[in-house]
Amino acid sequence: MLTDTAELVAQARTSARPLFAFNVITLEHAQAIVAAANRAQRPVILQLSENAASYQGNPEPVLAACRMLASAAEIGVSLHLDHVESEQLLRLAPELGVSSIMVDRSRLPDEQNVALTRQATEWAHNHGLFVEAELGEIGGKGNAHTPGVRTNPADAAEFVAATGVDALAVAVGSTHAMTTRTARLDQALIIELARAVAVPLVLHGSSGIPDDELRAAAGNGIVKINVGTLLNVAFTGAIRAALAEDSGVDPRSYLRAGRAATEQAVHRLLQAVG
Ligand code: G3H
Ligand code: ZN
Repeated sequence: MLTDTAELVAQARTSARPLFAFNVITLEHAQAIVAAANRAQRPVILQLSENAASYQGNPEPVLAACRMLASAAEIGVSLHLDHVESEQLLRLAPELGVSSIMVDRSRLPDEQNVALTRQATEWAHNHGLFVEAELGEIGGKGNAHTPGVRTNPADAAEFVAATGVDALAVAVGSTHAMTTRTARLDQALIIELARAVAVPLVLHGSSGIPDDELRAAAGNGIVKINVGTLLNVAFTGAIRAALAEDSGVDPRSYLRAGRAATEQAVHRLLQAVG
Protein backbone atom coordinates (compact mmCIF):
# COMPACT_ATOMS: atom_id res chain seq x y z
CA MET A 1 0.00 0.00 0.00
CA LEU A 2 1.15 3.52 -0.67
CA THR A 3 2.61 4.74 2.64
CA ASP A 4 4.45 7.87 3.76
CA THR A 5 8.21 7.65 4.08
CA ALA A 6 7.97 9.12 7.59
CA GLU A 7 5.85 6.17 8.67
CA LEU A 8 8.16 3.59 7.08
CA VAL A 9 11.20 5.22 8.69
CA ALA A 10 9.47 5.23 12.09
CA GLN A 11 8.58 1.54 11.68
CA ALA A 12 12.15 0.72 10.66
CA ARG A 13 13.47 2.50 13.73
CA THR A 14 11.27 0.59 16.14
CA SER A 15 11.63 -2.76 14.40
CA ALA A 16 15.44 -2.37 14.17
CA ARG A 17 15.16 -3.60 10.56
CA PRO A 18 16.69 -1.22 8.04
CA LEU A 19 14.49 0.34 5.39
CA PHE A 20 15.83 -0.03 1.85
CA ALA A 21 15.35 2.73 -0.71
CA PHE A 22 15.91 1.56 -4.27
CA ASN A 23 16.59 3.80 -7.26
CA VAL A 24 14.06 3.66 -10.07
CA ILE A 25 15.18 4.50 -13.59
CA THR A 26 12.66 2.67 -15.76
CA LEU A 27 9.27 1.10 -15.20
CA GLU A 28 10.97 -2.31 -15.13
CA HIS A 29 13.01 -1.23 -12.09
CA ALA A 30 9.88 -0.20 -10.20
CA GLN A 31 8.08 -3.43 -11.11
CA ALA A 32 11.06 -5.52 -10.05
CA ILE A 33 11.51 -3.71 -6.72
CA VAL A 34 7.85 -3.99 -5.72
CA ALA A 35 7.67 -7.64 -6.80
CA ALA A 36 10.74 -8.45 -4.69
CA ALA A 37 9.44 -6.47 -1.70
CA ASN A 38 6.12 -8.32 -1.89
CA ARG A 39 7.95 -11.64 -2.02
CA ALA A 40 10.15 -10.71 0.94
CA GLN A 41 7.26 -9.02 2.77
CA ARG A 42 9.46 -5.99 3.43
CA PRO A 43 8.44 -2.34 3.03
CA VAL A 44 10.56 -0.34 0.60
CA ILE A 45 11.05 3.15 -0.79
CA LEU A 46 10.93 3.75 -4.53
CA GLN A 47 13.19 6.70 -5.17
CA LEU A 48 13.74 8.80 -8.25
CA SER A 49 16.93 10.83 -8.29
CA GLU A 50 17.14 14.20 -9.98
CA ASN A 51 19.38 12.53 -12.59
CA ALA A 52 16.71 9.94 -13.32
CA ALA A 53 14.05 12.67 -13.43
CA SER A 54 16.16 14.53 -16.02
CA TYR A 55 16.53 11.33 -18.02
CA GLN A 56 12.75 11.01 -18.07
CA GLY A 57 12.34 14.65 -19.10
CA ASN A 58 9.09 14.79 -17.20
CA PRO A 59 9.19 12.70 -14.00
CA GLU A 60 5.39 12.53 -13.71
CA PRO A 61 4.68 9.40 -15.83
CA VAL A 62 7.23 7.18 -14.09
CA LEU A 63 6.17 8.47 -10.65
CA ALA A 64 2.51 7.88 -11.53
CA ALA A 65 3.44 4.30 -12.38
CA CYS A 66 5.37 3.99 -9.10
CA ARG A 67 2.34 5.29 -7.23
CA MET A 68 0.08 2.68 -8.85
CA LEU A 69 2.54 -0.11 -8.09
CA ALA A 70 2.85 1.12 -4.50
CA SER A 71 -0.93 1.29 -4.03
CA ALA A 72 -1.31 -2.29 -5.24
CA ALA A 73 1.56 -3.66 -3.12
CA GLU A 74 0.95 -5.97 -0.15
CA ILE A 75 3.55 -4.14 1.92
CA GLY A 76 4.18 -0.44 2.58
CA VAL A 77 5.84 1.38 -0.32
CA SER A 78 6.66 5.08 -0.29
CA LEU A 79 7.83 7.47 -3.01
CA HIS A 80 10.90 9.67 -2.57
CA LEU A 81 12.82 12.21 -4.64
CA ASP A 82 16.55 11.66 -4.22
CA HIS A 83 19.55 14.00 -4.54
CA VAL A 84 17.43 17.01 -5.43
CA GLU A 85 19.81 19.80 -6.35
CA SER A 86 17.54 22.10 -8.33
CA GLU A 87 15.03 24.54 -6.92
CA GLN A 88 12.72 23.58 -9.78
CA LEU A 89 12.39 19.91 -8.82
CA LEU A 90 12.05 20.82 -5.13
CA ARG A 91 9.06 23.07 -5.89
CA LEU A 92 7.49 20.37 -8.05
CA ALA A 93 7.74 17.68 -5.34
CA PRO A 94 4.30 18.15 -3.70
CA GLU A 95 2.58 17.79 -7.08
CA LEU A 96 4.51 14.63 -7.90
CA GLY A 97 2.92 12.66 -5.08
CA VAL A 98 6.13 11.86 -3.20
CA SER A 99 6.10 11.96 0.61
CA SER A 100 9.80 12.67 1.05
CA ILE A 101 12.70 14.39 -0.57
CA MET A 102 16.46 14.48 -0.19
CA VAL A 103 17.72 18.03 -0.42
CA ASP A 104 21.27 17.82 -1.74
CA ARG A 105 23.24 21.03 -1.45
CA SER A 106 26.45 19.23 -0.57
CA ARG A 107 28.33 20.58 -3.58
CA LEU A 108 28.19 23.99 -1.93
CA PRO A 109 30.44 25.24 0.86
CA ASP A 110 29.12 24.20 4.30
CA GLU A 111 27.65 27.59 5.22
CA GLN A 112 25.62 27.77 2.05
CA ASN A 113 24.62 24.12 2.37
CA VAL A 114 23.20 24.87 5.84
CA ALA A 115 21.38 28.04 4.80
CA LEU A 116 19.82 26.58 1.64
CA THR A 117 18.96 23.27 3.29
CA ARG A 118 17.22 25.13 6.12
CA GLN A 119 15.15 27.16 3.63
CA ALA A 120 14.27 24.11 1.55
CA THR A 121 13.37 22.10 4.66
CA GLU A 122 11.05 24.80 5.95
CA TRP A 123 9.31 24.97 2.59
CA ALA A 124 9.09 21.16 2.26
CA HIS A 125 7.73 20.80 5.81
CA ASN A 126 5.02 23.34 4.99
CA HIS A 127 4.07 21.03 2.13
CA GLY A 128 3.99 17.93 4.33
CA LEU A 129 7.23 16.37 3.10
CA PHE A 130 9.77 14.41 5.15
CA VAL A 131 13.24 15.83 4.47
CA GLU A 132 16.62 14.14 4.27
CA ALA A 133 19.81 16.10 3.64
CA GLU A 134 23.52 15.55 3.39
CA LEU A 135 26.42 17.00 5.26
CA GLY A 136 29.82 16.09 3.92
CA GLU A 137 30.28 14.65 0.51
CA ILE A 138 29.50 10.97 0.14
CA GLY A 139 31.74 10.41 -2.86
CA GLY A 140 31.44 9.18 -6.42
CA LYS A 141 28.89 11.63 -7.76
CA GLY A 142 31.24 13.92 -9.65
CA ASN A 143 33.91 16.52 -9.21
CA ALA A 144 32.80 17.87 -5.86
CA HIS A 145 32.63 14.37 -4.44
CA THR A 146 35.76 12.59 -3.41
CA PRO A 147 35.91 9.18 -1.72
CA GLY A 148 37.37 9.04 1.76
CA VAL A 149 35.31 11.87 3.24
CA ARG A 150 33.82 11.36 6.71
CA THR A 151 31.01 13.14 8.55
CA ASN A 152 32.11 14.63 11.84
CA PRO A 153 29.60 13.82 14.65
CA ALA A 154 29.67 17.32 16.20
CA ASP A 155 29.19 18.93 12.78
CA ALA A 156 26.36 16.49 12.08
CA ALA A 157 24.52 17.43 15.28
CA GLU A 158 24.99 21.11 14.51
CA PHE A 159 23.75 20.64 10.93
CA VAL A 160 20.59 18.83 12.06
CA ALA A 161 19.83 21.48 14.68
CA ALA A 162 20.45 24.32 12.23
CA THR A 163 18.42 22.90 9.35
CA GLY A 164 15.58 20.99 11.04
CA VAL A 165 15.95 18.00 8.70
CA ASP A 166 14.18 14.70 9.51
CA ALA A 167 16.99 12.36 8.43
CA LEU A 168 20.70 12.74 7.78
CA ALA A 169 22.77 11.12 5.03
CA VAL A 170 26.23 10.47 6.39
CA ALA A 171 29.64 9.86 4.85
CA VAL A 172 31.02 6.77 6.60
CA GLY A 173 33.05 5.01 3.94
CA SER A 174 30.66 4.31 1.09
CA THR A 175 31.10 5.70 -2.41
CA HIS A 176 28.39 6.11 -5.03
CA ALA A 177 28.23 3.94 -8.14
CA MET A 178 30.52 1.07 -7.11
CA THR A 179 30.02 -2.06 -9.21
CA THR A 180 31.87 -4.33 -6.77
CA ARG A 181 30.85 -4.92 -3.16
CA THR A 182 34.23 -4.37 -1.61
CA ALA A 183 33.98 -1.17 0.46
CA ARG A 184 34.25 -1.24 4.25
CA LEU A 185 32.32 1.09 6.51
CA ASP A 186 33.58 2.99 9.50
CA GLN A 187 31.31 1.22 12.00
CA ALA A 188 32.74 3.05 15.02
CA LEU A 189 31.86 6.36 13.35
CA ILE A 190 28.30 5.15 12.67
CA ILE A 191 27.92 4.41 16.39
CA GLU A 192 29.25 7.87 17.27
CA LEU A 193 26.97 9.57 14.75
CA ALA A 194 23.90 7.67 15.99
CA ARG A 195 24.72 8.88 19.51
CA ALA A 196 25.30 12.46 18.41
CA VAL A 197 22.28 12.89 16.16
CA ALA A 198 18.65 12.37 17.12
CA VAL A 199 17.29 11.90 13.59
CA PRO A 200 17.64 8.63 11.62
CA LEU A 201 20.86 8.10 9.66
CA VAL A 202 20.90 7.26 5.97
CA LEU A 203 23.58 5.33 4.09
CA HIS A 204 24.12 6.28 0.44
CA GLY A 205 26.19 4.45 -2.14
CA SER A 206 25.28 1.13 -0.55
CA SER A 207 25.81 -0.95 -3.71
CA GLY A 208 29.50 -1.24 -2.89
CA ILE A 209 28.95 -2.52 0.66
CA PRO A 210 28.93 -6.27 1.43
CA ASP A 211 25.97 -7.83 3.30
CA ASP A 212 27.80 -8.27 6.61
CA GLU A 213 28.84 -4.61 6.66
CA LEU A 214 25.26 -3.54 5.89
CA ARG A 215 23.95 -5.75 8.70
CA ALA A 216 26.45 -4.26 11.11
CA ALA A 217 25.63 -0.71 9.96
CA ALA A 218 21.92 -1.35 10.57
CA GLY A 219 22.73 -2.66 14.04
CA ASN A 220 24.85 0.39 14.73
CA GLY A 221 22.27 3.00 13.76
CA ILE A 222 21.78 3.25 9.99
CA VAL A 223 18.01 3.28 9.42
CA LYS A 224 17.64 3.89 5.66
CA ILE A 225 19.88 2.19 3.09
CA ASN A 226 19.99 3.62 -0.46
CA VAL A 227 20.79 1.21 -3.26
CA GLY A 228 20.98 1.98 -6.98
CA THR A 229 23.95 0.62 -8.94
CA LEU A 230 23.50 -2.94 -7.67
CA LEU A 231 20.19 -3.05 -9.53
CA ASN A 232 21.79 -1.72 -12.69
CA VAL A 233 24.55 -4.31 -12.54
CA ALA A 234 21.87 -7.01 -12.47
CA PHE A 235 19.61 -5.31 -15.05
CA THR A 236 22.29 -4.48 -17.60
CA GLY A 237 24.18 -7.75 -17.10
CA ALA A 238 21.07 -9.80 -17.82
CA ILE A 239 20.19 -7.67 -20.83
CA ARG A 240 23.70 -8.00 -22.21
CA ALA A 241 23.52 -11.78 -21.85
CA ALA A 242 20.05 -11.95 -23.42
CA LEU A 243 21.14 -9.85 -26.38
CA ALA A 244 24.19 -12.03 -26.93
CA GLU A 245 21.93 -15.06 -27.26
CA ASP A 246 19.07 -13.60 -29.24
CA SER A 247 19.35 -11.73 -32.52
CA GLY A 248 15.65 -10.80 -32.54
CA VAL A 249 14.37 -7.25 -32.18
CA ASP A 250 11.58 -7.61 -29.61
CA PRO A 251 12.62 -5.51 -26.54
CA ARG A 252 10.46 -7.70 -24.33
CA SER A 253 12.88 -10.60 -24.62
CA TYR A 254 15.79 -8.73 -23.03
CA LEU A 255 13.80 -6.35 -20.80
CA ARG A 256 12.07 -9.36 -19.25
CA ALA A 257 15.49 -10.84 -18.45
CA GLY A 258 16.68 -7.51 -17.02
CA ARG A 259 13.60 -7.12 -14.86
CA ALA A 260 13.82 -10.69 -13.52
CA ALA A 261 17.50 -10.26 -12.62
CA THR A 262 16.75 -6.97 -10.86
CA GLU A 263 13.94 -8.56 -8.86
CA GLN A 264 16.29 -11.36 -7.87
CA ALA A 265 19.00 -8.91 -6.75
CA VAL A 266 16.55 -6.88 -4.66
CA HIS A 267 14.99 -9.97 -3.12
CA ARG A 268 18.39 -11.44 -2.24
CA LEU A 269 19.46 -8.20 -0.55
CA LEU A 270 16.22 -7.86 1.41
CA GLN A 271 16.64 -11.44 2.66
CA ALA A 272 20.31 -11.01 3.47
CA VAL A 273 19.97 -7.76 5.38
CA GLY A 274 16.98 -8.07 7.66
O1 G3H B 1 21.03 7.90 -3.49
C1 G3H B 1 21.25 6.84 -4.09
C2 G3H B 1 22.14 5.89 -3.54
O2 G3H B 1 23.06 6.50 -2.74
C3 G3H B 1 22.60 4.82 -4.47
O3 G3H B 1 23.98 4.67 -4.55
O4 G3H B 1 24.10 3.57 -6.75
O5 G3H B 1 26.04 3.56 -5.24
O6 G3H B 1 24.02 2.21 -4.68
P1 G3H B 1 24.58 3.43 -5.34
ZN1 ZN C 1 22.99 8.79 -2.94
